[in-house]
Amino acid sequence: MSAGRLKGDVRWGVLGAARIARSSFLPGLREAGGGRAVLVASRDLARAEAFARAEGVDEAVEGYETVIESPDIDAVYIALPNSHHASWTVKALEAGKAVLCEKPLCVSSAETEAVLAVAASTGSWLWESFVFPFQAQHRRVLELLAGGAIGEVLELVSPYHFKLSRSVDIRLSGELAGGALADVGCYPVRLAQEVLSTHDPAPGEVVGFATGNGEVDIDTVAIVNYGVQRLVLGCSLTRALDVFTRVLGTEGQIHLSSPFHPAPSDALVLRRDGKETVEHPTVDTRSFSAALRHIHSVLRGEQAPAHLAAESALRSARTIEAIAAACRPPHPG
Ligand SMILES: NC(=O)c1ccc[n+]([C@@H]2O[C@H](COP(=O)([O-])OP(=O)(O)OC[C@H]3O[C@@H](n4cnc5c(N)ncnc54)[C@H](OP(=O)(O)O)[C@@H]3O)[C@@H](O)[C@H]2O)c1
Repeated sequence: MSAGRLKGDVRWGVLGAARIARSSFLPGLREAGGGRAVLVASRDLARAEAFARAEGVDEAVEGYETVIESPDIDAVYIALPNSHHASWTVKALEAGKAVLCEKPLCVSSAETEAVLAVAASTGSWLWESFVFPFQAQHRRVLELLAGGAIGEVLELVSPYHFKLSRSVDIRLSGELAGGALADVGCYPVRLAQEVLSTHDPAPGEVVGFATGNGEVDIDTVAIVNYGVQRLVLGCSLTRALDVFTRVLGTEGQIHLSSPFHPAPSDALVLRRDGKETVEHPTVDTRSFSAALRHIHSVLRGEQAPAHLAAESALRSARTIEAIAAACRPPHPG
C-alpha cells in the first residue's frame, strides 16, 4: 500500500502469535484508533485461534502466506524472529501491503540493501518498528538540541539492559539471529542517528567487548567514534533492567529515564548551569500508539510518511555490523 487510497480503518494482518504483538502492538492499535487487527497467522492454527480469541482479532489462520495473499489486508505487522524479517517483509511488500517490521529489519547490511530495494521498486511503505521517533518526548529532545540547550553534543551514553528470564528464547539462538546487540543494542544505534551528526563510523573506529553463549552475544559494551562525537552503548540480556539515556554536550546534558518506551511517569531532565529542569512530555499510555496513528494517517493520504526504513535501516545495519566485528568473537560467558 503506497498511496492514500484508504477510506475506513486500516486492516492489519499480524504474522506470528508473538509476545510483542500481544504486549505492545495490539494495545497500541487499540489506543491509536483508525485501524484494527483482522487476521493473525501462526505456524500453528490452535495457537493463532487462542491468540485471536484472547486479543479480539477477527480471524486466525495457519501459515503466514494467507495474510500476505489476503485482499482484505492493507498493512502487515511482522513479529517474527529476526532471521525471518527480510523474507516476509519482501513478500508483503511485493503483495502491495504496507509493512511494519519488527527491529532489526534485517540481519546484515547486504540483506537490508536488498529489502530496501524491494520497498523502492514496489512503492510500498516500509517502517522498521522503532516507535520512539514518533513520540513527543523525542521531538522535545530534538527541539532542545536544535536550540542549543546543551551546547555542542559530544556523547550519547545509552545502555539497554534487561535480564532474560527464559532459558529458551529467540534471543538466545544464532539460527534465529538473536543476541543482545540485535535485540536491544539496535536501539542506541538508531537513537545515535537522531541525536548525533549522523556519519557512519570509519573502519577501526569502534571498540567493543562481548560475552556470549556460544551462539550469540549476551552482554556487549561498545564505543563508536564519529570523530568529535561518540556513542557509548551497552546492551545485555543478563543484567538488571536499565534503559536510561544521557546526551552530553559542551554546556549541559539531557537525561531520559526511558528513551525508547516512555510511560507518562517518565522524565526528561535538562542539566545546565548548575540547575536541573524536569519535564514530562506528554506520551501515550502505549508506546506504539503514536507510530500507528502516523501509519494510519499516511495510508489514508492525510500525512506524508516519516521515519521510513529507507531513511535509517541501512546505516543502523552497518553500525551493528561494525560493532559486532569489533567484539568478535564474544568471550564465552
Ligand atoms: N519494538 C519493540 O519494542 C520490540 C520488543 C520486543 C521484541 N521485539 C521484536 O519482535 C520480534 C518478536 O519478538 P518476541 O519477543 O515477541 O518473540 P516471540 O514471542 O518468541 O515471538 C516470535 C514469533 O515468531 C514466530 N516464529 C516463527 N518461526 C519461529 C521459530 N523458528 N522459533 C520461534 N518462533 C518462531 C512464532 O509465532 P507462531 O509460532 O505463532 O508462528 C513466535 O510467536 C523480534 O524481532 C524482536 O526483536 C520488538
